[in-house]
Amino acid sequence: MRKKLYINGKWLDGINHVDLIAPHSDVLLAEVPLATLDQLEEAIMSAKNARDEMEKLTAFERSMILEQLVEQFKVNRSRLAEILALEAAKPLKAALGEIDRTIATYKIAAEEAKRIYGETLPLDAVAGGEGRITYTVREPIGVIGAITPFNFPFNLVAHKVGPAIAAGNTIVLKPASQTPLSAYALAEMLDQTDLPKGAFNLVTGKGSEIGDALVKHADVKAITFTGSPEVGISLKSKAGLKKVTLELGSNSALIIDEGVKLSDELINRCVWGAFIYNGQVCISLQRIYVHESLTEEFLSKMKIAVEKLIVGSPLDLKTDISALISKKDVFRIDQWVKNSLEDGARLITGGNVISERIYSPTILANVSNTCEVSCNEVFGPVVTVNSFKDFDEAIIEVNNSRYGLQAGIFTENLHRALYATKKLQVGGVLVNDVPTFRVDLMPYGGVKESGYGREGIKYAIQEMTEMKLISIKM
Ligand code: SIN
Repeated sequence: MRKKLYINGKWLDGINHVDLIAPHSDVLLAEVPLATLDQLEEAIMSAKNARDEMEKLTAFERSMILEQLVEQFKVNRSRLAEILALEAAKPLKAALGEIDRTIATYKIAAEEAKRIYGETLPLDAVAGGEGRITYTVREPIGVIGAITPFNFPFNLVAHKVGPAIAAGNTIVLKPASQTPLSAYALAEMLDQTDLPKGAFNLVTGKGSEIGDALVKHADVKAITFTGSPEVGISLKSKAGLKKVTLELGSNSALIIDEGVKLSDELINRCVWGAFIYNGQVCISLQRIYVHESLTEEFLSKMKIAVEKLIVGSPLDLKTDISALISKKDVFRIDQWVKNSLEDGARLITGGNVISERIYSPTILANVSNTCEVSCNEVFGPVVTVNSFKDFDEAIIEVNNSRYGLQAGIFTENLHRALYATKKLQVGGVLVNDVPTFRVDLMPYGGVKESGYGREGIKYAIQEMTEMKLISIKM
């Protein structure tokens, strides 16, 4: 019940602790240590001291460590999914999906560990460059500070720990204060692998003190953060010359073009995109722009499908919708929905607080783009639907956002599909799918306030390595 910090391959007692309460009930899950600044220093020094051991490992050895971790995840699949259901209120169906993705992510990392290379350069292409053999290599950057969110406690950690190990780096992980149990489980599993002691360190806590100290520390060479734009922008301003990767929020949009058939498959995809894990996903489908000839049919089909979603305990395999991560979010979302209704939005379904923890899956139509449910990231079970007449008008609306992570478009028209891929200001465009689509080898990241840099193992390895030039005069 009382958890410990994992530093230098040992479990260390905390000094002060905080209760971790399950978001879907009042059950006490654990007492979580609040790492002190001294303990953080110890974790960073352990990571720094483990660098030599890590750098001695061959690509094959690093790959095998990640394969050992993959095996641990496979053996513990249902127990790990249950941890997600308990600490994050992630419905078991989605939690099992996250564990399967995490397995894929570490597997991709194991494969990418073997593919880290540079290039040879013909320096004799310029006068004075002749008579040399020249090439680049990619070297591990050193200690990585990883700060992760509550919504994918295993897989978004894997997107940081996987490439860090693949590239031969060492890590200090600070997981979200709401979901530390998954990080303890990860530490236990890594402890069973051949990873050198000290290469992975886990510090838990609440508030910004530990995160800020990690970001500012001179021995931490790169920061990888997933979370809100506000925190990400603030961390970047404190990071000095460190490499920083930021995966931030969005209010992802989808265009449904004239002539598209509103099949069950399309409707189910939209319901999945908007309501999987209560919409607490950075690429959750939040804004839908539908051609005016299809809007009423779309709304009536969406209403029927959304009203079939099963609300219940995250531990029940049938559940689609469960508790939000905090009661505060239920209140905030309810207020935003009420504000949009006062502003003239039309309620299609939902719009009510089911319990102090659960908000009903909600569809709003005719929503002004200045309403919070449209222009902010809702991170909850709310989707907005607006009509458009002219295709360019829809593109302008999608781009009318301070975010730009992913966008989707359903169309039968190749010209308009290609036009949208060019015009949409986002990190990824999904043609004939919702913006919520992600598989874990894709480059993933955003423009504008959605982020900086890219994840997806191969791309994260670029961010976590330094290029070195070697030129040999013959
Ligand atoms: C995120 O919420 O940023 C991650 C979404 C995903 O991995 O599916």
